[in-house]
Amino acid sequence: MAAMKNIVILISGRGSNMEAVVRAAQAEQWPARIAAVISNKADAKGLEFAAQHGIPTAVVSNKDYPSREAFDAALQEVIDGFSPDLVVLAGFMRILTPGFVSHYENRMLNIHPSLLPLFPGLHTHEQALASGAATHGATVHFVTAQLDHGPLVDQVSVPVLPGDTADVLAARVLEQEWVMYPRAIRWFVEGRLSVEDGKVNIDRN
Ligand code: GRF
Repeated sequence: MAAMKNIVILISGRGSNMEAVVRAAQAEQWPARIAAVISNKADAKGLEFAAQHGIPTAVVSNKDYPSREAFDAALQEVIDGFSPDLVVLAGFMRILTPGFVSHYENRMLNIHPSLLPLFPGLHTHEQALASGAATHGATVHFVTAQLDHGPLVDQVSVPVLPGDTADVLAARVLEQEWVMYPRAIRWFVEGRLSVEDGKVNIDRN
């Protein structure tokens, strides 16, 4: 049997995607353990859920560091203390330095609430509504130095409905994120994902 893989999850707030990953890993008995949940904010709601589930937690506050480089170096040290095979960004609201990103090349995933390459950055639901698009969604991708770019692993789309507010649309997308992100992470853990020439191959056998 293959060795257990270590997953480290980074959050900044609510952590509902982290929760979905933790629950799926347990329920489906992945060959993986959630080695740690790390937040850059001490008051991130998701830390409570992690602690209640016996998952080690840590806070590395960006406010304690004079530069992005210094913060990312400190964060990297804490992450690497958990020997991660995979780093999962789950609502982690920080722009990462190129050095940090390349350290985790092909082993760091992000979920972004839009159909990339549409609407990188913040306020994606407002942007989708303003664009008049009939569909919106979310994307799981490997992280590269360019914000909200990188090899696509999976996407899910939802309809934009008449009368939608950004909150209503966000909730519709989020519900699908909770399905897509655990599934993508499971593919990684099972060794089904590979990146070649900036494209992801998924072994579906
Ligand atoms: C999600 O919409 C995710 O796609 C985006 O930030 C939100 C995080 O929500 N990156 P949560 O903290 O996982 O509940």
